[in-house]
Amino acid sequence: MVELTLPKNSRVNGKGKTHAAPKGAKKVKTFKVYRWSPDDDENPRVDTYKVDMSTCGPMVLDALIKIKNEMDSTLTFRRSCREGICGSCAMNIDGTNTLACTKAIEDVKGAVAIYPLPQMQVVKDLVPDLTNFYAQHASIEPYLKTDTPAPEKEWKQSHEDRAKLDGLYECILCACCSTACPSYWWNQDRYLGPAALLQAYRWLADSRDEAKGERLDNLEDPFRLYRCHTIMNCAKACPKGLSPAKAIAEIKKMMVERQV
Ligand code: SF4
Ligand code: SF4
Ligand code: FES
Repeated sequence: MVELTLPKNSRVNGKGKTHAAPKGAKKVKTFKVYRWSPDDDENPRVDTYKVDMSTCGPMVLDALIKIKNEMDSTLTFRRSCREGICGSCAMNIDGTNTLACTKAIEDVKGAVAIYPLPQMQVVKDLVPDLTNFYAQHASIEPYLKTDTPAPEKEWKQSHEDRAKLDGLYECILCACCSTACPSYWWNQDRYLGPAALLQAYRWLADSRDEAKGERLDNLEDPFRLYRCHTIMNCAKACPKGLSPAKAIAEIKKMMVERQV
C-alpha cells in the first residue's frame, strides 16, 4: 500500500461541499473527492458525493463519470479507454495509486477517498501536471536507434529476443509507479523515476537496437539513475503488474558489466 501524500500545491483545509443522493436511493456509497481549481476561492477541499449505486457501474471511474454527469459537472479528471490501456485515469484511490477504470468500488470498505497522484502539481481536481514526466520519457529516446541501413521489409527478431521485452513493453505510462516512489517525490527534477527507467531498459534490452553505449552514457549520472534505492514501492503500485525496480537493477548491472 502506497502512503498517501498530498499533491504539491495543497494542504486540505477540511471544508468541502456535500452532494446528497437522490430521494429514494436505497443503496448509497459515499465518495470523498479532492478538489482544487485555479479559479476557486475554497482551495483545496474534499467534496462528498453520495452516489446511488443501483444506477452506477462497478468501477470507481463509473462513479466519477456518474458524479460528473448527474451531480457536479465541475469535477475534472482524465480518462479515455475505460479498460486499463491508456493510463490516463491514474489517481490515488483508498490510499493506493491505481487506475480508476479497473478499481472495483466494492473492493473499498466504507467511503471511497479519491486524490490525484501524490506529490505532483495539480492542474485541476484529479488532473496532475505530467509535463515533466513525459519530458523524462522523451529524454530516454523511446524508439529504435540503428546504424545499420534499414532492411527492405522489417527489423527481424528471434522469438527468444522478443520474449526479453515481456514485462517491459506493456507499460502504459500511467505514472502510478513514479508518483509512488519516495526518491522521485524529492528529486523529480533530476531523478528519471521508475517509469522512464523501465522504458529506458525496454530499449536497452531490445536486440535490434544499436545504441546501447549511448543509452548507458545518457543514464550514467548520480541522479538520473542512481537515486533508485530499491524501496520497491514502484512494483507494488504498478496496475499492470510490472516491476520497474527489476528493470532498474538490470540497467545498473549493465553499467557494471561494461566496466569490466
Ligand atoms: S525501487 Fe527505486 S524506483 Fe522503485 S520505488 Fe524504490 S527507489 Fe523508486
Ligand atoms: S511501469 Fe506500471 S505503473 Fe509505471 S508507468 Fe508503466 S504501467 Fe504505469
Ligand atoms: S481510462 Fe484508460 S486506463 Fe483507465
